[in-house]
Order: sequence, then C-alpha cells, then structure tokens
Amino acid sequence: MIAIVTGATAGIGWHTARALTDAGVEVLITGRNTDRGVRAAREIGAQFHQVDHASIADNLALAEWISGRGRKVGMLVNNVGGAVVAERTVTAEGNELGLALNYLGPVTLTRALLPTLAPDVHVVNVVSSAYTMYTGDPFTEPDRYVGINAHARAKQLHLLASMSLARRLGDPSRVNAVNPGMAWTPGTQALTPAAVPAWRFIWPLVRAFQRRASADKAARSSIEWALHPTGTGIYVESNGRAQPLPKRLTDPGLQDRAWQWPQTYHATGTSPPACPAG
Ligand SMILES: NC(=O)c1ccc[n+]([C@@H]2O[C@H](COP(=O)([O-])OP(=O)(O)OC[C@H]3O[C@@H](n4cnc5c(N)ncnc54)[C@H](OP(=O)(O)O)[C@@H]3O)[C@@H](O)[C@H]2O)c1
Repeated sequence: MIAIVTGATAGIGWHTARALTDAGVEVLITGRNTDRGVRAAREIGAQFHQVDHASIADNLALAEWISGRGRKVGMLVNNVGGAVVAERTVTAEGNELGLALNYLGPVTLTRALLPTLAPDVHVVNVVSSAYTMYTGDPFTEPDRYVGINAHARAKQLHLLASMSLARRLGDPSRVNAVNPGMAWTPGTQALTPAAVPAWRFIWPLVRAFQRRASADKAARSSIEWALHPTGTGIYVESNGRAQPLPKRLTDPGLQDRAWQWPQTYHATGTSPPACPAG
C-alpha cells in the first residue's frame, strides 16, 4: 500500500510527505522538475514520479503507471494547486491553467485511480478558504479573468467534487477537503498584486504576514486528516476543525456534477484526453 502526495517537492506538500514517511508510510511524491523531485525524495525518504498535474494526459499516465505496478493506494493527498496568475493562461491541452491544476487534473487523477484505491483509502483534497469568494455558477467561466477569482472557482469545484466522492466511496474510506491556511511557499512567493487586485493597496502588509507563515504548520491539517481522519465528506479549516459548507454548496446534485464534469469537459482549444467514467 502506498501514499501519493502530489506537488510535494517543495512547500506544504513536502512537509506533508515527510510527516507521512516519518510515520512509516511508503510515499510517492510528484512534481514537474525531476532534479528537484529526486532531491526532495532523497530528503524525505520517498519515491518521485515526474508529472505535470495541469495536464490531463499526465494525470492519466500517472494513474496507469501506478495500477501497472499492482499497488493499492492507501492514501491520496491531492495537494497540488496554485497557479494564481495575473493573465489568463491556457495549457497545451486548451484548459485554463488554474482550473486545470486545481480541479480538472486532481479530479481526473482521482477518477482514474478509483480501481487502485484501497477500500479504506484516505483521500485529502487540499483546497483553500478562497473557495467562498466565488459566488457565480462554477460551471461557467466568467467573461472577465481575475487570477484570484479563477482560483476560487477551481477550488470550489474541487471541494464540491470531494463531497460527491465521499458519498460514492462510502465507509470505510475517508474523503475530506482541507484548507492549509497561509504559508510562505514557492507558490505564494510567485503571487503578484495583479493576480489579487484586492490586495493591491496593502501589498507590503500582506507580504509581511505571508513571510511569517510556515509551510510546516500549514501541512498539519493534511497530515492529521491523512493519518487519522475522524469523519468523511468534511471540509476542514486551517485550525484543523470541521466547518460546514455554505448552504448553496451542500446540494448533492451540484456536488455530483462537479465530480462528473471533468469527464465531459472540453475546452475551446485542443480536446484533452477523456477522463474515465466512474
Ligand atoms: N501557500 C498558501 O498560502 C496556501 C493557502 C491556501 C491553500 N493552499 C493550497 O495548498 C496546496 C499547496 O500549496 P503550496 O503553496 O505549498 O504550493 P506551491 O508552493 O505552489 O507548490 C510547490 C510544489 O508543487 C509542485 N507543482 C507546482 N505546479 C505543479 C504542476 N503543474 N504539476 C506538478 N507539480 C507541480 C512544485 O514542483 P515543481 O515546480 O517541480 O512542479 C512543488 O513541489 C495548493 O493546493 C494550494 O492551492 C496554499
């Protein structure tokens, strides 16, 4: 049985993966950069696999590689996320980058791994409290692109899909979504005021707070809910406590749609490979 922690060669994922290996779990970490990945795997005592999680094809290939090795997945921490950028960016498969990295990719990976998940799997989907900021229809991309809004929408969709998956798998599996809270990581360092216009006038203050926030601390909810989940279908805030979702996001139909949408989603550019049914 192995644990997968995505996007774990730096930042919150690195600390999550290290805590899991410290607890005696066999861990596979992923990232785009092979040098960084091999180095991190050595530090953590994990294995590394090179994946671009914004690519549907790469997520499908990872799931195929894992199932081809005949291993069951006992823990899946869909940690990868971010890409909060000022300009709308499109992946080679034609998907908006934030949607691809924070939602389409992780849900595609999870769907493709379904036959490989242990019956008592623990799934932790790392989202963000930013999900509350998006109040429009999450299945429609707004006309005007704003980095943080696109991020909020993608995290909301991943949160909704998490709740659907929790119902689908049922006991004894555990599927939860966590908000790690603020941390000074490569992703945070790459943020610009143009991507988060609301912070424009207080940018130096925001940066001062962000610099003090440790990734080690931010990883605690992921670690706790990967190792010792106390429920399923729960959204966990950065203080480690369960928090109810706003009423508008509790509709099982909406949640199921978010779980299924990546299977049929086709961007305007080149069509991505099909995500498996399930
Ligand atoms: N940091 C915060 O303040 C904060 C707050 C709320 C929520 N979160 C959420 O917490 C999670 C972790 O955040 P973080 O700040 O630690 O992230 P981060 O600094 O952006 O993560 C860096 C890690 O992700 C990998 N990565 C980045 N893009 C990737 C891609 N396309 N494919 C594969 N790997 C990729 C990086 O390796 P390579 O560069 O080699 O690919 C590295 O291992 C994310 O889901 C984020 O949205 C973070």
